[in-house]
Amino acid sequence: MLNIVKEEKAGRFMPWKKEYVLGIPLVDKQHKVLVGLTDDLYEACREGVVSAEATFREASHIVVDYVKIHFSTEEKIMDKTGYPDAPAHKGEHRAFVAKFLKELADFEDGKAFVYYDFAHFLKDWILNHVSVNDKKMVDYVLHSVGNRVSGENRAG
Ligand SMILES: [Fe+2]
Repeated sequence: MLNIVKEEKAGRFMPWKKEYVLGIPLVDKQHKVLVGLTDDLYEACREGVVSAEATFREASHIVVDYVKIHFSTEEKIMDKTGYPDAPAHKGEHRAFVAKFLKELADFEDGKAFVYYDFAHFLKDWILNHVSVNDKKMVDYVLHSVGNRVSGENRAG
């Protein structure tokens, strides 16, 4: 039997908020998609006991594929700008993907699985990662690019 708990919610599970904007348009755009996908995944859990399993499976694979694209974008930015905390940040990405895939494997194996717990895990991880690690990275990138530009201006 599927372990579905109905939650009473006014409004969206994970609405996009302007305070999530960090300042690199491509990263912000991808974060916005990721937040939307997480909200969709949560909604997929509410579809009902009969269809929830298939809907969740489809939604979770879309999320994991998009997460990989997004992490690769961020990691390219880190490599290009010589971000000093890149190894730790990339490590967080890898650990997240591993945990995500492990949860999905458990789900496929028929282990006890609570859709809402997974959606909350996803939401909490994204919010924490964006507001701490990604913010740190974007601040560094904007600062270093800004310094380089002003340095070039001075040199010119
Ligand atoms: Fe990141």
